[in-house]
Amino acid sequence: MTTLPDSCNPFPENVDQVFTHCRMATMAKGNYGIVENAALAVSGKKISWIGPMDALPETPGTKKVTDCRNQWILPGFVDCHTHLIWAGSRANEFEMRLAGASYADIAKAGGGIFSTVTATRAADEGTLFDLASRRMAHFLTQGITTVEIKSGYGLDLDTELKMLAVADRLQQTCPQNVQATFLGAHALPPEFSDRADDYIQEIIKVMLPAVKDQGIATAVDAFCETIAFSREQTRQVFEKAIDLGFDVKLHAEQLSDSSGTALAAEMGALSCDHLEYLSTNGAEKMAEHGTVAVLLPGAFYYLKETKVPPVDVFRRLRIPMAVATDLNPGSSPVHSMIPVLNMACLLFGLTCEQALAGATIHGANALGLADRKGSLEPGKDADFVIWDVASPADLCYLTGITPVKMVVIEGRTEHGSV
Ligand code: NIG
Ligand code: FE
Repeated sequence: MTTLPDSCNPFPENVDQVFTHCRMATMAKGNYGIVENAALAVSGKKISWIGPMDALPETPGTKKVTDCRNQWILPGFVDCHTHLIWAGSRANEFEMRLAGASYADIAKAGGGIFSTVTATRAADEGTLFDLASRRMAHFLTQGITTVEIKSGYGLDLDTELKMLAVADRLQQTCPQNVQATFLGAHALPPEFSDRADDYIQEIIKVMLPAVKDQGIATAVDAFCETIAFSREQTRQVFEKAIDLGFDVKLHAEQLSDSSGTALAAEMGALSCDHLEYLSTNGAEKMAEHGTVAVLLPGAFYYLKETKVPPVDVFRRLRIPMAVATDLNPGSSPVHSMIPVLNMACLLFGLTCEQALAGATIHGANALGLADRKGSLEPGKDADFVIWDVASPADLCYLTGITPVKMVVIEGRTEHGSV
């Protein structure tokens, strides 16, 4: 989908709203795609026209006109990797890491993901929903309009289904688009201690079919890592998931090179996420199979990692790079895309344009939603944010402020005003 030159892009008839006098970074094709002195028309839930102000008909016959007063419009952020539903806190582990313990040490001692599993199992659905919906409300104020949410803090059937039911309630009640992912293979639950293969069989035989029947999750994720599951165990989960019609994606090469990425790419994964320890061979497989690289600089920062993902290799092989918050209580308690954009630039060396493409169009690519989300183009969902900034780069350059003026999702103003 591309923005047509305006001679081929006549002003449509059924326009409900026009946003006038704006500056726009469309992020189409992964570039800024800047249109100055622009207007954007919305018909129903979709963007129906984008063009220069002087191509706007004098009486566009619309119900509503919003003068953007020369402010910038960008696509809403697509946060393609979060663990937004959890109970409890891990501030104590943050203090332990400051005192020298590693993330892996804490996990091996029964903390880490397990401590959140205990709290999440104990919380009832209503409590989990209240906690998560507050996070979603905050995300809205940060310009995040699409949110992927993983389960994976249950690690038993009832709690995994409870988490996905919460994701479904968020989809019903929050303005954002929610994409739910089943992450049963996040960590080995205590009930299966030393029996990882048995837990994998439980996922394959019991959990995946039940998650399919529940009908909420569209994708299946796993954590392929020395402290989690092996490549072979990942393969078994993915085979069943694909068989059941799920998309797959992987937490891969976060703490070591387990070669999960090559496997996931070969199995058609939408994305591989983290990737600090990715080999060139793994990257080549991603390029070959069109897998998106999801960069999670929040986790890199909080875990004080030193090995950065191979961004130059991604660039050379033209692998799309998405950028996401990885919001979770352990490795990335980051509740906004703004600091993540800043970290992607300063820690991973992305340009501002690449970081913004990562949080918009490539985030949508990582979710298989790029036909609807992630850029400002006629035919796509009218999900966009009006920003009080001097240039799009301000969104990467400034921290401690989120200069959102207004958030529009599927044509509805959901937050703020111009
Ligand atoms: O993406 N790497 C595994 N999963 C999460 C962390 C989850 C947690 O620590 O609670 C991540 O970083
Ligand atoms: Fe994660």
